[in-house]
Amino acid sequence: MREIEERAARAYQRRFGEQPELIASAPGRVNLIGEHTDYNGGFALPCAVDRRVAVAVGDKGSDEGSLYSDDFDDERSLWDEEGGWSEYPRGVARILGENAEHNLEFRAAFAGEVPRASGLSSSAAIESATALALDSLFELGLGRTHLALACQRAENESLGVQSGILDQYASLLCGEGTALLIDCRSLEAEPVPLDLEAAGLSLVVCDTRVERGLASAGTGYNDRRAACERAAEKIGVELLRDASEEDFERLSGEESEEELKRARHIVTENARVLACAEALRAGDLGRAGELMYASHASMRDDYEISTRELDTFVDLAREHGAIGARLTGAGFGGCALALVRSGEVRGLREAALRRFAQSCFVEPVFYEFWPAAGAEISG
Ligand code: GLA
Repeated sequence: MREIEERAARAYQRRFGEQPELIASAPGRVNLIGEHTDYNGGFALPCAVDRRVAVAVGDKGSDEGSLYSDDFDDERSLWDEEGGWSEYPRGVARILGENAEHNLEFRAAFAGEVPRASGLSSSAAIESATALALDSLFELGLGRTHLALACQRAENESLGVQSGILDQYASLLCGEGTALLIDCRSLEAEPVPLDLEAAGLSLVVCDTRVERGLASAGTGYNDRRAACERAAEKIGVELLRDASEEDFERLSGEESEEELKRARHIVTENARVLACAEALRAGDLGRAGELMYASHASMRDDYEISTRELDTFVDLAREHGAIGARLTGAGFGGCALALVRSGEVRGLREAALRRFAQSCFVEPVFYEFWPAAGAEISG
């Protein structure tokens, strides 16, 4: 058992005075490339990170259904609409209960190590761990794709952000040492090798700690989504996944400028994801990295979701010889990633700390991640 899973088990026992029936855990994720493509039915290429949320569950049929967080030392009733962290597992339990046609009564204790509010999908990790645990505890027999869709619904309903399937799918279905090429329309996926160690590379993530204030990020996110829908309508396709560069002439008037930029990002990004997966399969990491830089430029100029902090980190990464770098996640703040030669990591971090201080930006936080296993049951 991983340390985080043991912590959840101990918390369960301490809180509820008995052993849990089982423990599940699920990771956060970074997206290597393919941003905002998911809700356009396109492609994305995330990998799971080696930071997880674990949940210990038991007492099936309990009449005192309860959710306990070891991190916040906070216990909430299973069914009260109380807001905060417990909204995510409660939402998942409600949706899986609809599926099972009866309320799922249980007790659960959570322990987490995924950085929160950074864009590393700590909420997808708690949802996915809960979904997998309940699927097993109540023998629901739902496949992982089904669980991912239930978690996405829980996320949409708790936050009012119309986010796509990327985060929950990645948390439930990624595999160790690989990235996952996801077709977000068919919901089929295929692992792509990502042996960073063999290539002497580190996956460095810079959390710019620019508040992705829920409301503003949510509004920006929903706005982008709405612009994509308008673009698709003007072009005459159901989803921008089906648009191509030739279709851009239908968005040529001044009144369609916003739609044109958003559509251009999505159409070119889908092509970059497929090319990046191909390059990784061929072991051409240099090519994969170039595509990441191109993806960043497209998010900065066409999708307009970057910030000065994110751009600064990406520029510095390039100066330090990173083979690729880009903002990752929803944007409007949050994190950027870089694939850096392992010997260069320290230099890049120090340079970024200096440059951020000179620019009067908030001090960033750095992580080094390895492509880790998706959600798992243990114990
Ligand atoms: C957030 C959403 C995802 C996806 C990304 C952008 O992480 O939750 O569904 O849209 O932003 O790629």
